[in-house]
Formats: sequence, C-alpha cells, structure tokens
Amino acid sequence: MDSMLDDRFVLDDSSAVGLSEQFGTPLYVVSEAAFRSRLRRYREAFAAAYSATRLSYASKANSILMILRIAHEEGYDIDVASEGELRAALLAGIPASHCHLHGNAKTERELDFALEQGIGEILVDNFRELDRLRVRNLGSTKLMLRLAPGVDPKTHQAIRTGQADTKFGFSIADGSAERAVDFCLSHKLPLHGFHCHVGSQLLDPDAQRAGGAQIAAFAVAMEGKSAFTATLLNVGGGLGVRYLPEHHPMPVEEYCQLIVDAIGGAIGDRHPTLAQEPGRSVIAEAGVTLYRVEVVKDVSTTKGPKRYVVVDGGLSDNPRSAMYEAKYEVRAIASGETSLATVSGKHCETDTLFSDVHLPTNLAEGDLIQVLCTGAYNASMASNYNRFPRPACVLLGLDGQAKVIQRRETWDQMFSSQVLPG
Ligand code: LLP
Repeated sequence: MDSMLDDRFVLDDSSAVGLSEQFGTPLYVVSEAAFRSRLRRYREAFAAAYSATRLSYASKANSILMILRIAHEEGYDIDVASEGELRAALLAGIPASHCHLHGNAKTERELDFALEQGIGEILVDNFRELDRLRVRNLGSTKLMLRLAPGVDPKTHQAIRTGQADTKFGFSIADGSAERAVDFCLSHKLPLHGFHCHVGSQLLDPDAQRAGGAQIAAFAVAMEGKSAFTATLLNVGGGLGVRYLPEHHPMPVEEYCQLIVDAIGGAIGDRHPTLAQEPGRSVIAEAGVTLYRVEVVKDVSTTKGPKRYVVVDGGLSDNPRSAMYEAKYEVRAIASGETSLATVSGKHCETDTLFSDVHLPTNLAEGDLIQVLCTGAYNASMASNYNRFPRPACVLLGLDGQAKVIQRRETWDQMFSSQVLPG
C-alpha cells in the first residue's frame, strides 16, 4: 500500500449530521472497516516478514469492550496493564490465557487476580515482582522479563520509555537484567523470553530497531552465560500515525521488516517467536470525534484579531493536546471560505484543543466539526473534569449501521460513587 496514501477515516457530512442528531455530541466514532483493515494489514505484514509471529493489541489505546473483541477476532491477544484492563478483556469474552499483563508496580491483588484467571503471560518489571511471583502458584502462566535497552527514542518526553533513565524494566547495562534471568532460573520460574517497549508515536523507527537488536543480543548472551534459551522476544508497540498530513509514519510492511532484520541480525539461526503489541497504529486513524460549536468569539490580541471556536467538549474527552502538545487535523462539516481559528474546549482553563486551524469563516453556533485520528488514547484517557460526562462511542459497522458501543455517561453514573456522611 502507498505510504503517502491518506486513508485515515473521515465522516462524510451527511453521516456526521445524522450521527450528531441521533447520538449527541461530543461523540467518538470508530469505523469497524478501518479498524479491521489496520489490524489485518499489521498481521499480514508481520507474518510476511517472519515465520513465527504473535500480535497483541495494547488495550490502553482504547479499551472499549467491542474494540477489544474486534481485535481478538482479528487474531490478536490482548495486552493489559492493570486489573481493570484485564477485567475489560474478560468482559469482552476474551480468555485470560490470551491476555498478558504489564505494569511497573503490579500489586499483590493484581497478580493474584491475573493468576486466578489463568493469564497467559506476565511481563515482569522488577525484583519485587519476581519475589512475589516466586511464592505463588503460576499454573500455566509464562513469564517474560521487561528489559530497559537504554535507547533514546525521538518522541514526546512523556511517552519515551526505552532510555536508561526509566522506571520501566530491568536494565541491561547495569546487570539487573542478567541477575533477573539468574533469579528465574535458580527459582525454576517459567521464563520464556524478553520484552522491550521503547516509546510511542515513533515516526523515526531507529530506537525501535536498536531496542529489538539489544534484546536479541541479550537473549543470545544469556544462552552462553546462563544456558537459557529465549523462545519469545517482544518489542512492544510504538509505530506512529498520521495526526497531520505532514506526518509520515513508516508503512507497517517496512516497519515489520525492520524489526525482523534488527532481531535477525543478532539471533543468527535461532528461531524464537517474535511478538509486537501495537495500540495507536491500529486504532487511532480509525476514529474521529464529533463536536458541536457552541460559541465563536473574535478577540483582539497584541498580534491582531484572533478567532476562538469553542466546542462542547475539550480537555475531558481529549487530554492529549494539553499533555503532549498533540496536534490534530480538524474539519468543519460546512464549507466556504476559511480563516485561521483556535479551537478551544469548554473547560474552566485554557484548554486549547487545536491552534491555527483553517475553518470556514462563516462557522457558527450549532455547526459541527470533526477531529481526525482520535481513536487512540482519547476515550481511554477521558475524565470527568468539571463534571463533564464521558462521551458515547459509536461503531460504524461493516453493515453500514451505527451502533452504540459505549453509552454517554449519565448523571446517575457520575454521582453513584459519592457519599455525604451523616
Ligand atoms: N506496549 C507497552 C508496554 C506500552 O507501554 C505501550 C504504550 C504499548 C505497547 C502501545 O504503544 P503504541 O503502539 O500505542 O504506541 N497516552 C499516550 C501514549 C502512552 C503509551 C504508553 N504505552 C498518548 O496519548 O500519546
């Protein structure tokens, strides 16, 4: 597929109007066809590059139950990072044996719950966790060690995890990783292999290549030193997406080949299963958010006139602009001559969603806008800040029908946890 082809999901104007009337705004909309095609393309690309592959969907990107179910139907295991995410997968009908548990501070309770359910794998982060696992009945659960390969990805600093200064995993450089292997062997823990995840929204795959090569080289070194043979190497997620037209993530076919080559260069004729756990790259571009314009306000600034288009959502349904200076493409469901505007949310702070976007000059209260590429890390990071209910999510099914897959939060749900003692 052409890497320059812009195949991000976009609603046509009449669907946008119809959905907003039927389900209200703000509204997350996910295209089933766009999601499934990305899941398939990733799977086929990885399988074409290597003969023994496994993919998991990183559920933190979007853990709406139907999204998890579709990922599983497409042959993905589910990567969960908490008891809550595991419960979501179980509720979606996915057996725990097809899930693997991440987390850098797993509690005893989380470990017990995951083991009781028969979790497929636990990705161990630290020695405290190994101690806890040593005294538990692991049943058929396999262990993997999360390694810190000490590579520096080029992405926003909040989503860099591969560097040496990180809270995640066992450092290869300082010998912790090797001690962790020895610990597993001496306590006869069911260690199967190694994992790394170097960062997210990677538009430059160099760190990913280096991370893959590092864990593979480490696996080979352990074979020599500790007589341990890794049967599974997992390089996490991280492939970036096209938030803006000028973003050009590597096509997944090239990306998978690059990972396989990086690992292949180190492992020689060994043949472990290779795994990845993409989140953003399979779901982000399959979703949009629809907002209604509430207010258009022209203000005078020292730099001249400025237009604010204020919508009926904001920080609570998409915190990514505030957290990661994320940029998005915004389109109006209206046409006409355009001028620059700043799209803001309705929260009680400067919740600029998108600066300097071209929107029709005649845009007015009641008009709709859609924000592209919001399928990942929007619904899953939504909050109730300012007591805004979390938005609904609609799936545009393969049959063309719109189905609610997450209801809009009700006031009753919002206040059901509240207690006024006395
Ligand atoms: N595996 C592990 C161990 C991870 O920590 C992550 C993401 C993934 C896989 C999936 O990575 P992806 O393919 O989605 O890049 N909230 C941030 C993103 C945080 C990513 C954390 N880990 C954002 O909105 O950009």
